[in-house]
Amino acid sequence: MARVLLGVSGGIAAYKAPELARLLRKAGHVVDVVPTEAATRLVSPAALAAVTGRAVRSSMWDGLESGTMDHIALAAEADAVVVAPATADLLARAAAGRASDLLSACLLVARAPVLLAPAMNTRMWEHPFTQRNVATLSALPNVRWVGPESGELACGWEGLGRMSEPATIAAAVERLWKRDLAGRRLLVTAGPTHEPLDPVRFLGNRSSGRMGQALAEAAARRGARVTLLRGPTALPAPAAGVELVPFETALELRLELRSRWKKCDALLMTAAVADYRPRSFSTDKLKRGAEDAALALAPNPDLLAELGRLRGSGRTPLLVGFCVETRNLAAAAKAKLAAKRCDWIVANLAREALGLETTKVEVHRAKGRPLGPFAGTKSAVADALLDALAPLLRRPA
Ligand SMILES: Cc1cc2nc3c(=O)[nH]c(=O)nc-3n(C[C@H](O)[C@H](O)[C@H](O)COP(=O)(O)O)c2cc1C
Repeated sequence: MARVLLGVSGGIAAYKAPELARLLRKAGHVVDVVPTEAATRLVSPAALAAVTGRAVRSSMWDGLESGTMDHIALAAEADAVVVAPATADLLARAAAGRASDLLSACLLVARAPVLLAPAMNTRMWEHPFTQRNVATLSALPNVRWVGPESGELACGWEGLGRMSEPATIAAAVERLWKRDLAGRRLLVTAGPTHEPLDPVRFLGNRSSGRMGQALAEAAARRGARVTLLRGPTALPAPAAGVELVPFETALELRLELRSRWKKCDALLMTAAVADYRPRSFSTDKLKRGAEDAALALAPNPDLLAELGRLRGSGRTPLLVGFCVETRNLAAAAKAKLAAKRCDWIVANLAREALGLETTKVEVHRAKGRPLGPFAGTKSAVADALLDALAPLLRRPA
């Protein structure tokens, strides 16, 4: 049993909040609901009180006469805070550190895990301000996400922004405390490679490293010992519990992998490794000329295929490759699965993933039918992928 503070902000999906509160209570938790003023216009506080069996608080100013400071006590005593739906405005207030209403004040006080379930129109979700707020909140060590998902929106639009269903959110709440990867060792690669041309130039790619970092952080939270081999990115240091090893080129990454792959239970290869590197490196800066210039490229080793070969018929480590494509996603993923002899290929489309806070992936497996699609913030997708991987990582009895 845990104490769950359920924040409800003023999105139309607030009508699903009583169902979520009911599921959380059914799971054995004590649920205190804090709707915003806007939420109370969309869902009845009486319904929320009825399903939780507890008083519902919406204002910082109620109950002061009884001597309690709800905005401190409610959040300080909670084992988890869940906000469903989380509106664009609530995310903006939380990212700005506002405490102008009871729910945003609670979010400032909370140190327990905070699970956010965004719900809004696609345009609102995709707006750079909302994406900036999502990035700011994602950098906090206790913030997790569930959704948003793609589908039909209440405003009549179709797209990303739909709140996850109450059952999905309730399952994500249980995961907040889960240590199902305790004792497992994971090696995760992330980010682009930089292949140097001269002292000031390189060949690179647009990978941000976010998916790999989200996977590394989620696995560490779930108890795994995680090493993150990370190419050059603008990301902050990963959360505590993740060992960070930087690399720059495909050949440097290969060296790191060679010395580490046998010691891990799973290898998650999200890094976008250059297929080619410049054949030569100029120690002096290359100069401008009037003629066309040609670049001679040498192929880089295919690191995933190499590991697939080295592993041979062994069962460990579990090999998970990632691919980003511009079209024919399923066909490309299946071809890679066979060519690289790995267990899974997690595939996404460049326009739905590259450089974004969110992604949508499908999983193609050597054994079994495809899984997914899983969509949402990269941290939500990381947890969904680890949910599917965890049973495969359990030690045989
Ligand atoms: C009927 C209705 C539905 C709304 N649905 C959403 C929604 O799904 N997501 C959202 O971000 N804002 C939505 N809004 C706008 C928010 O209610 C508004 O931004 C409000 O200030 C949010 O306050 P809160 O974050 O304190 O709950 C909706 C407004 C109305 C009138």
